[in-house]
Amino acid sequence: MTQHQAGIFDKRYRDHLLLEYRWAPSGDVAALRSALRTVLAARDAAAERSFVLVGFGPRLLAALGGTHSFDDFDLDGLVPSTQGELWIWVQAADRGTAFDLGRSVHGALASLCDLTLEVDAFVYHDLRDLMGFVDGIGNPEGERGRQAALIPAGQPGAGGSYVFTQKWRHNLDAFAKLSVAQQENVFGRTKVDAVEFDDERMPDDAHVGRTDVDRDGVPQKIWRRSVPYGGVREHGLYFLAFSCELSRFDYLLRRMYGVADDNVRDHMLSFTEPQTGAYWFLPAEAELAALL
Ligand code: HEM
Ligand code: MG
Repeated sequence: MTQHQAGIFDKRYRDHLLLEYRWAPSGDVAALRSALRTVLAARDAAAERSFVLVGFGPRLLAALGGTHSFDDFDLDGLVPSTQGELWIWVQAADRGTAFDLGRSVHGALASLCDLTLEVDAFVYHDLRDLMGFVDGIGNPEGERGRQAALIPAGQPGAGGSYVFTQKWRHNLDAFAKLSVAQQENVFGRTKVDAVEFDDERMPDDAHVGRTDVDRDGVPQKIWRRSVPYGGVREHGLYFLAFSCELSRFDYLLRRMYGVADDNVRDHMLSFTEPQTGAYWFLPAEAELAALL
């Protein structure tokens, strides 16, 4: 299998920057190709202390001569869709390096596409969401994680991945009014040591109860790498996950909103709200080079 872009599975860096761009299909493709090669050169020059990942929306992928297509994120208006055409994820050992890389990336792209979202994000304590629960501990690890995240050999985009991103804004004051036991029921895991509830104890509307699920006998596993963002007034989670197939994201979201299988709504939705949503195709390294 071809090499995937570095930084999907490696969680060593704590300082993150997310950039989402729009691009008009009437835009200059040759100029954008050249700008993206500049982005990759900046990535390679800083590779010892950072990762920079590059993903595409459907129109830009087509304009670059991509061999397959996919649809915009659109969940029938249930949650916002802010589908863009270019996604950049900077992960760095320190905030200065993340800033420098962000400036290089944006310097190359600014005249060619519109920055619609910029999120400065960080690892909070021992990989917790700002609500205080460890986030990502239920991911499939090792080979199972690779299978969940990467498109299998023989399929269009093999070795690459589909990414789903969603900026959520939290109401931490409301969540803080719950007792720890009530908070644990919202997620279906214990707070301090992150132990998953067994089936008898799992509330119907717990987040893990909604999302730890099989569909037609296939576990709907994804590889989550969400990162918290924000300051004292406004804060939340930049949800970020990889999958070998886009339909898993839709299905999990529909289960959270109680419009698949049953009418049970994820209790977590009482404390946070999505503001953006987009799908991206993250090509494997060889396909990325071929597109540019
Ligand atoms: C599990 C937080 C949104 C899919 C979890 C866990 C936490 C969490 C704390 C339990 C720990 C773990 O298993 O890693 C959040 C927060 C969200 C959010 C704070 C938004 C603000 C989403 C969305 C999806 C999703 C949008 C799907 C599209 C999952 C899955 C699991 C999980 C698949 C693992 C279930 C399992 O197999 O045990 N999430 N999540 N989450 N979440 Fe989320
Ligand atoms: Mg589980």
